[in-house]
Amino acid sequence: MNEETELSGVEQQVSSGVALVETDAKCLQEIARQLGESVDAACFASLEALRRELAPGAPVVVVLGPSYGVSAELEQVEWLARTCPELGLILVVEELSTTVLQHAMRAGVKDVLARPDRAQLMWAVQRVADRLQLAIAPSLDDAPHLSDTPGKVITVFSAKGGSGTSVVAANLAVTLARRSSGTVALLDADLQFGDVAVMLKANLEHSIVDAAAAGGRLDPQLLQSLMARHEPSGLMVLPAPTEPALAEKIGTDDVRRIIEVLRTFCDHIVVDTPARFDDVVLTLLDSSDDIVLVSGMEVPGVKNLKLAVQTLRQLDTPVSKLSLVLVHANTKVQMDVRDIERALGLKAKVVIPNDTVVPVSLNKCVPVVIDAPRSPVTRSIEALADAYLPAPDQGKRQRRTMMSRRA
Ligand SMILES: Nc1ncnc2c1ncn2[C@@H]1O[C@H](COP(=O)(O)OP(=O)(O)OP(=O)(O)O)[C@@H](O)[C@H]1O
Ligand SMILES: [Mg+2]
Repeated sequence: MNEETELSGVEQQVSSGVALVETDAKCLQEIARQLGESVDAACFASLEALRRELAPGAPVVVVLGPSYGVSAELEQVEWLARTCPELGLILVVEELSTTVLQHAMRAGVKDVLARPDRAQLMWAVQRVADRLQLAIAPSLDDAPHLSDTPGKVITVFSAKGGSGTSVVAANLAVTLARRSSGTVALLDADLQFGDVAVMLKANLEHSIVDAAAAGGRLDPQLLQSLMARHEPSGLMVLPAPTEPALAEKIGTDDVRRIIEVLRTFCDHIVVDTPARFDDVVLTLLDSSDDIVLVSGMEVPGVKNLKLAVQTLRQLDTPVSKLSLVLVHANTKVQMDVRDIERALGLKAKVVIPNDTVVPVSLNKCVPVVIDAPRSPVTRSIEALADAYLPAPDQGKRQRRTMMSRRA
């Protein structure tokens, strides 16, 4: 296919509320591909071609490619902005200089982005659409499926570091994702040293920091675009910040908002936490439908968990929300399961054996439930996951796409 036919073939009606204009065919396709993962943008090879398709007075977000970042073309852009004030213009450039920025702003461009990634581009489109009070139509393929009932939040917590919390959280989430018909998310709320994304070899391009930075603009589509997909299981992962210092950028309102948005398109949200009670962890525990309490089988860990259970009870956490998971079973020196249950006033839901398959799988960055599918560790985690899944003969939840909800 030559460049000319490619260009004439992509000109369409602006039905989604977003248009893309770029004279260079390759560049047009590249930006269209980025946008296409989130929104059905109509593509045009020139401003004239765009104008022919515009409905008078209808607001449209127009993304202009790098060809429009030069003086001569910016004059045309200025003319477009003057004659069609209902358009919201965004300019994408290769490199951002003060001259281009000033000229673009004078021409009426609302935002200038230098080589944006998919999420940055979508944020800008969403921001400009908000200003135009325009609900943009998402691409059908990429629209998150909204659940009719809010997803369940399962927070995994331990009162002692190194107990196996992240191993349980990551493998529980992977198992739920493989066995459930709906979307399953794993949120890494160990904001300083979270490692579930590394455990799953997930893409670290975005993290919870980006989701928090979106503030009130965070919606299912934007959040989904910030999450990494664990391909072997289909699990969606929102990683912890890449640097411990970024943890302070995330407050209780942010995690509350992120959880609420996750509930709209995920059936299950598994949350990994650090071994401490801080405001963010307490907010997450309070927002959870279930709390998986992980403990080793030695006196100090059990003592800490007993204190944690007392604190949760003082905070009016219903005991029915608490599930005890004991890890590192079968070492000869450990406490007896019944003694631990009696001390905590909770019955263990599963007991996970101590097994080298766990560190071996961690070193391969493959979850143990995939790396050692027949191991007793995997069987225990599967038994835990089954407690959160409906019986196989129960009907699947009715789901509908974001498109049908908006329609
Ligand atoms: N069932 C198991 N058998 C053997 N080793 C295990 C098991 N579960 C966890 N481990 C080991 O325990 C260590 C800590 O696991 P993990 O990172 O899940 O704990 P954590 O509670 O999340 O720790 P942190 O407080 O650092 O977040 C890992 O090195 C892992 O290999
Ligand atoms: Mg951990």
